[in-house]
Amino acid sequence: MDDWNFRTVIEPFRMKMVEAIPFRTAAQRLAALERAEHNLFKVPARDVTIDLLTDSGTGAMSANQWAALMLGDESYAGSRSFLKLEETVQEITGMPYVLPVHQGRAAERILATVSLNPGDRVLNNTHFDTTRAHVEHAGASAIDIPVAAAHVPSDTSPFKGDMDLAALDAALEEGPVAMVMLTLTNNAAGGQPVSMANIEAVSARCRARGVPFWLDAARYAENAWFIHSREAGFEDMSLPAIARRMFDAADGFTMSAKKDGIVNIGGLLCTRDKGQYDLFAVEGILSEGFPTYGGLAGRDLEALAVGLREALDPDYLRYRERSMAYFARGLMQVGIPVVQPAGGHAVYIDAGALCPQLRSDQFPGIAVLNALYLHGGVRGVEVGELMFPGATLQLVRLAVPRRVYTQAHIDYVIEVGERVAKQAPEMGPYRIVEAPPVLRHFSASLAPA
Ligand code: F0G
Repeated sequence: MDDWNFRTVIEPFRMKMVEAIPFRTAAQRLAALERAEHNLFKVPARDVTIDLLTDSGTGAMSANQWAALMLGDESYAGSRSFLKLEETVQEITGMPYVLPVHQGRAAERILATVSLNPGDRVLNNTHFDTTRAHVEHAGASAIDIPVAAAHVPSDTSPFKGDMDLAALDAALEEGPVAMVMLTLTNNAAGGQPVSMANIEAVSARCRARGVPFWLDAARYAENAWFIHSREAGFEDMSLPAIARRMFDAADGFTMSAKKDGIVNIGGLLCTRDKGQYDLFAVEGILSEGFPTYGGLAGRDLEALAVGLREALDPDYLRYRERSMAYFARGLMQVGIPVVQPAGGHAVYIDAGALCPQLRSDQFPGIAVLNALYLHGGVRGVEVGELMFPGATLQLVRLAVPRRVYTQAHIDYVIEVGERVAKQAPEMGPYRIVEAPPVLRHFSASLAPA
């Protein structure tokens, strides 16, 4: 498909099963939002027309994945399905020891419990919120050192997910570091990719000092695609070869398979070290079960083995990048500022720039988010003051589930965005009525102030 140069972002699949999406009147949406105390997490999905809350576990499985489900071997120990998954993961990543888990945060919990001690320091380009929570739960400190460009929404640098190498050197000089991690792609900072040059530079520094270097590989395939399409020297390298080279740099990885595994549930914890694997397996038994099923059914392991390979299909990844760029461009054209360049799995609206009349403690992200819902039944998530108190950027993430929505759905969301942009100058503040002390965004009650 190297001569593929049409303007149209054609979906590289056709449908053989469909699911109706709900339509609600403006009055019904307003009532639903009020019942939910102005927090979209508490709106039932049946009242949402286009659900862009997350790309996690919301993808559509392929015919081959559905067929694979029927091959599931539900044996408690050593199932055929596990062996197939293990072989697939070993082939893609080169990691010899493969522990399935029920989702990404289970891998994080086991890794943190086994490998971290109180007082340890862990460095990351940007910790995802569950990763940070597990590092801190182990008594360690989670330190984010993204490159400076990550903080500037209008900066169009190609690899804004990179780690700041000078900050890494300084932290390594300062004292012992228990672990260095790179999140591929950098979800909490706009879904931005990490370059191979950065992965290998971080790896070399860690190896020189004997510091364990790990990947959070939730969106490994999208990251590999960006290396292929944006980094000099990788134009002609195959996606499996790029992915393999990314993993070769690391000592182990955690993965939420609900993203680039294209399954509805699942995760992985993999390492090169047999002794470490044995400790993970014992710790995993507490929450995940026997190490060859890890909290998943045999059929889930089958679907994951297929999904991990499908995610590396260049036709699929090209479409994924192009449709995200199309979405970002469309929103910009109707007056909605978005984080540049478009990321791999989501478009991030710069709500602070869209509503300059609102201070961050007046929750501009929530104002824009709820307006998207009221105007068109579109659901996203605030990534700003409500989710991360003190956050410098006030963003709204519109995450696109894999292989679920078409270009017409995206066009519709852009049209809804156009109405929201017109209303933006008059948007008023929100306030918190009630909220728990941690992870408050999930359950807070909010109100227009
Ligand atoms: N790491 C990253 C980079 C993630 O984006 C997520 C989940 C996790 C780890 C945790 O994985 O949900 O399977 O336990 N991100 C979802 C999101 C929830 O909406 O971005 P999990």
